[in-house]
Amino acid sequence: MAIAQSAAAFTSAVRFSRPRHSRAAPSRVAASVATPEPARRLVAAFDPAIPLASAVTPPSGWYTDPDFLRLELDRVFLRGWQAVGHIWQIKNPNDYFTGRLGNVNFVICRDANGKLRAFHNVCRHHASLLACGSGQKSCFQCPYHGWTYGLDGVLLKATRISGIKNFNKNNFGLVPIQVATWGPFVLARFDYGFSQETVDDVVGDEWLGTASDLLSRNGIDTSLPHICRREYIIECNWKVFCDNYLDGGYHVPYAHGNLASGLQLQSYETLTYERVSVQRCESAQAEQNDFDRLGTKAIYAFVYPNFMINRYGPWMDTNLAIPLDAARCKVIFDYFLDKSLLDDQNFIDRSLKDSEQVQMEDIALCEGVQQGLESPVYGVGRYAPSVEMAMHHFHCLLHANLSE
Ligand code: FES
Ligand SMILES: [Fe+2]
Repeated sequence: MAIAQSAAAFTSAVRFSRPRHSRAAPSRVAASVATPEPARRLVAAFDPAIPLASAVTPPSGWYTDPDFLRLELDRVFLRGWQAVGHIWQIKNPNDYFTGRLGNVNFVICRDANGKLRAFHNVCRHHASLLACGSGQKSCFQCPYHGWTYGLDGVLLKATRISGIKNFNKNNFGLVPIQVATWGPFVLARFDYGFSQETVDDVVGDEWLGTASDLLSRNGIDTSLPHICRREYIIECNWKVFCDNYLDGGYHVPYAHGNLASGLQLQSYETLTYERVSVQRCESAQAEQNDFDRLGTKAIYAFVYPNFMINRYGPWMDTNLAIPLDAARCKVIFDYFLDKSLLDDQNFIDRSLKDSEQVQMEDIALCEGVQQGLESPVYGVGRYAPSVEMAMHHFHCLLHANLSE
């Protein structure tokens, strides 16, 4: 498409010489920032070569230092495929949703022809955010001065520009972002110039590596209807939430009494892949007529860096942990349920209530950990080698990315 080419050409042009008559466009975000010395020292303070049994955890600065978070955004989140949403959010032509990752605001949409698109959510006039929230729109009209864009990114109308010189509307479309789907998930990557190639075929391998088979064989597919979304703002670094998820069920008997009674914790096992770790656990037999939210098997997949997919009984839920600042994150929960139970409102309500209780318990733990990490007496911790291998794997992946 002409617009895609012109926007890509434009973004690469501004890296070298800025056109005299136009304001700076949102430039490609992949340009690496230099690593500040203290952040570099923090990265180096964790040694991934030390075996798990002898290793110490990353130092508390990984969880508290704003420069360290800036480095993570640059090296981890704005490179490679990132989960950003679900296909139910852009089911029909003209559906869209917006999001933010670090300083990148994006909009994902399905254009009038049904083609999936993603753009930087920045008006090319004076940089106003363009789209807001989610919903359906036939075009994006900027709330500031009314410039209007199609859902294919084309600038349709630039208001009151009579007399303007050296201006070609075709060069002022929205700046595109690479987007793809895998199963029910929408992925974006912010480090590529836009390419028109279809990437859905390769994204599974790039995003999930050799775990992609295991996940597609275990009921992570597009067949489950979406039930609801819940969002939590948590006063902790985004990794505290991930670490809590990755402790191999270690905290479950202490922190989630109710949940622990439904799981056979001795059956917990952890498998690690390139960028994915999978924890599996069998559920305790539900008594007859008993409420059975968990089914017989549970699988908890962590997709580096911040996406969690939980498949248990008739349910699937996903958790996306988005950094807001060094000591705060937003976690988005989406719940999906097997079609056969869609009419059982009582089951749905009870399941969601139980899940909410677990979330509240985890939030209290995570916020407590963040406070502990900020204490002057805490430096590093240790791993419990028989259960916390997925957490160690996560820290090693981070270290590798951050040292690049
Ligand atoms: S900033 Fe969008 S129209 Fe002016
Ligand atoms: Fe938990």
